[in-house]
Amino acid sequence: MNKFPKNFTWGVSTSAFQIEGAWLEGGKGLSVWDVYTHTPGKILNSDSAEVACDHFHRYEEDVKLLKNLGVKAYRFSVSWPRILPNGYGKINRQGIDFYDRLIDLLLKNNIEPWLTLFHWDMPVTLFLEKDGWLNPQMADYFAEYAQVCFDAYGKKVKNWITLNEPWVTAVLGYGKGVFAPGRISNTEPYIAAHNMLRAHGKTVEIFREKYQSLTNGIIGMANNCDWREPKTDSADDRNAAQRALEFYLGWFADPLYKGEYPASMHETLGDRLPEFTAEDAALIKGSCDYFGLNHYTTMYAEKAPLGDVKLSPYVNGGLYDDEKVLLTSDDLWEKTTMDWNVVPWGLSKLLKWIDKRYDQPEIYITENGAAFDDKLINGTVHDDERINYLKEYIRETAKTIDDGVKVKGYFLWSLLDNFEWALGYTQRFGLYYIDYKTLQRFPKDSALWYAQLTKNGKL
Ligand code: GAL
Repeated sequence: MNKFPKNFTWGVSTSAFQIEGAWLEGGKGLSVWDVYTHTPGKILNSDSAEVACDHFHRYEEDVKLLKNLGVKAYRFSVSWPRILPNGYGKINRQGIDFYDRLIDLLLKNNIEPWLTLFHWDMPVTLFLEKDGWLNPQMADYFAEYAQVCFDAYGKKVKNWITLNEPWVTAVLGYGKGVFAPGRISNTEPYIAAHNMLRAHGKTVEIFREKYQSLTNGIIGMANNCDWREPKTDSADDRNAAQRALEFYLGWFADPLYKGEYPASMHETLGDRLPEFTAEDAALIKGSCDYFGLNHYTTMYAEKAPLGDVKLSPYVNGGLYDDEKVLLTSDDLWEKTTMDWNVVPWGLSKLLKWIDKRYDQPEIYITENGAAFDDKLINGTVHDDERINYLKEYIRETAKTIDDGVKVKGYFLWSLLDNFEWALGYTQRFGLYYIDYKTLQRFPKDSALWYAQLTKNGKL
């Protein structure tokens, strides 16, 4: 039996755009995702998040669901255009009040809020007027927005996440164009990422100077990374797997912990990789109080063959061409409906890689979970596959803690089925099933299972 430390943080995660709906209510401005989802051809089945889970109106019901799960912590994001409809300047009181009510209700129920400032929904005006993350000034706009949130919630919220998965915004939003804002380029991902890191650095500086002491709080970033397993034991494949991890997680975590990008990126990218000024590097290095990790899956990595080949059926161009790694899957691995491989040991290998490379940081798994084809039958969902996925990944987490890695918490993605970005409503990650016609919530078997786990901390 695996047992977790008593003070281990059990939580669940969501994000504003994926659950709130109320896209034109309460004084909210538009985000790049509002625009992208209304662009024909971008989202599967032309779904939009106009209503999503209607959480904006049903947050009280959703806090009850959190209570039923027995979680100690709830990770959610604030919608930047709900707080600052234009991204800067005039503050929208109704937006401030919405999250204030949510936070109060969480605290009243003994659930610790974990507030993410940016889960991809940049105000569209900042993109139209200022070029979004391509503009170095975005660091100042972001810090201005963050400060509005710190002023509003800094006395109540202890746990802060600046950015969720900047990799996704950079690669899918500014490289492949399959996520908002929909840019296609092989230079812009590196510029966007650079400015996101700078934005994080400035924000943390402000937090530490003026707000951290209000609650004795913590701040960090939630970075995503899959595990890359060498396809064979050859030096080429082992180097390829290492390079892939450096281009994925090292891209963000090396600046945060070492103050510079990985050498492998410098060598390959030359002047496509921006340089940090000494001042920026100093702000960014050491700016995380904990290591936030979103993890879902694993792929094999091998040295890419020379020449003009398409590297993998999963990817095209940009970053993937730059890292020169061929990614493949194993037919024997079970797959989720995202077509992601279920490989629990990949999580413990990744946790150990982080532990070693970044000198034993405290790690919070800020997202982990799985989508399956859940069916509602007589008011419940028998989602044995999800229970199995969670059990195995959580067991690996426990083993890794036993091996001395400092994993302090686990947030399951997600509380509810929700809007899965370009895939619309086709993917069900929730512990609660949503009937998107009536918006009623139904507990899945995994919700009952997770409630047991959070209660006694035993697997
Ligand atoms: C993450 C993201 C979440 C959620 C999840 C499942 O990349 O932060 O918003 O969509 O993946 O795909």
